[in-house]
Amino acid sequence: MNRRKFLKASAISAGVVGLGGIALSAGNNSTVLEPPTQTVPSTSNADPFALQSITLNINGQSYQVGVEPRDMLNNVIRDYLGLIGTKRPCNRGECGGCTVLIDDVPHMSCTYPAYRAVGHAILTVEGYNVDPVLNAVQQAWVQADSGQCSGCQEGQVMAATALLKSNPNPSLDEIKFAMSGNICRCGNYAGIIAGIQLAAQNLQGGSA
Ligand code: FES
Ligand code: FES
Repeated sequence: MNRRKFLKASAISAGVVGLGGIALSAGNNSTVLEPPTQTVPSTSNADPFALQSITLNINGQSYQVGVEPRDMLNNVIRDYLGLIGTKRPCNRGECGGCTVLIDDVPHMSCTYPAYRAVGHAILTVEGYNVDPVLNAVQQAWVQADSGQCSGCQEGQVMAATALLKSNPNPSLDEIKFAMSGNICRCGNYAGIIAGIQLAAQNLQGGSA
């Protein structure tokens, strides 16, 4: 095949492929192979973003709320239910500022699907009236001046509450380990540790 014939054959092949088939050239004859027929999976008519009604137990109260499957617990608590004590500083699981307790275990609510919390006890920073440990932590926070700008404080308080529920008398190392996922941009870690130690002392009957 000389250069002219080669270019001609290539142009024909490219044109055919561009139309969705594959061309096999043999001399002047071209055979077009159609692409195999693919079975397109049937799609459901259901709206994947349709609201589904769920019931959440937050601070001892039942809340019925419509959520999308993709809704995280944080935006349901804050944006749908108006419990804005729970913050959302980073919204990507990096800072701990959105921490809530689920069955007394701390979780970052910005990455926790809301529907997974159904049937579990959720505690937020507003629940100080129903949870004595949370109440004691909040009082100690004020006494020890543990907050600074307060951007991180809700998450710190909730993480501290979870710690004291599972370990009423933590050592300094245990406090540091338990609080390691909660970032304070102000660097007020000494004040936060002092608040936790004071809360532990108060909960055990010590004087403030
Ligand atoms: S807002 Fe959830 S971890 Fe930062
Ligand atoms: S007190 Fe300001 S970020 Fe923690």
